Amino acid sequence: MAAEADCAHVIIIIAMKEEAAPLVEFYRLEPLGSSPFIEPSPMVAWRGTLRNGLLLHVVWCGHDERFGVNNVATTAAAVSTYAAVAAFGKPALLLSAGTAGGFGQRGARVGDVYLSTKCVFHSRRIPVSDGTLEEYGFGHFRSPPLAGLAAAAGLKQGVVSTSDSLDCTPTDMDLMMAEGAVVKEMECAAVAWVCQNLHVPFVAVKSITDIVDGQKATRAEFESNLHAASSALQHRLAAVLDLVAGRPLSVW
Ligand code: ADE
Repeated sequence: MAAEADCAHVIIIIAMKEEAAPLVEFYRLEPLGSSPFIEPSPMVAWRGTLRNGLLLHVVWCGHDERFGVNNVATTAAAVSTYAAVAAFGKPALLLSAGTAGGFGQRGARVGDVYLSTKCVFHSRRIPVSDGTLEEYGFGHFRSPPLAGLAAAAGLKQGVVSTSDSLDCTPTDMDLMMAEGAVVKEMECAAVAWVCQNLHVPFVAVKSITDIVDGQKATRAEFESNLHAASSALQHRLAAVLDLVAGRPLSVW
């Protein structure tokens, strides 16, 4: 088997402009002059070569043309991921980065940043005869073993669960509890599915804005913590990028 290549190129997929901005600013990333995507795709890309030599592409899923809001959730995340790999080539590592809800009963606190051990869908419910389609629905996308990286970068680790909804029905909650989820968000299993199909190593990095099983209303808690959580995300992502640059992922 060929030796695993050193990590020289990372792509980060981000749903919200507010989540991408601190990273773009911190690294002074350059917007790509002419869009690498089919016009008039909404995605926006930045590029930079970091001081450690790592080539970084950050792709924001863009604004919706009709509603003017961030293109959150799974459809835009999957399309953006495929388009990014088509435009920039296969990276050594692709990240889904952003903000998320966390489960207090499993130790999540606002401001924590998590590295995924696994990503699942909790709203692709397909309970038919032999159970294979049901398991396909959940997805069960295992992340590479990166416990050493998480410890070195100050990240917690856990299962991240994805749906297209900010809210949480009783069925969603039962399934997330059964799957061992610590983090709830709206993109990463879709990004993981694309990466699985393209054989690109994938992991999610998610910063907690709200406690799903806490006392506060999700939207209000999310909105009041978005800025601080995006800043925490940028700090932890910078630590991750510093640590992975120039080494094979298998050292972690
Ligand atoms: N993003 C931030 N908080 C979230 C939550 N509670 N559910 C889904 N996505 C989120």
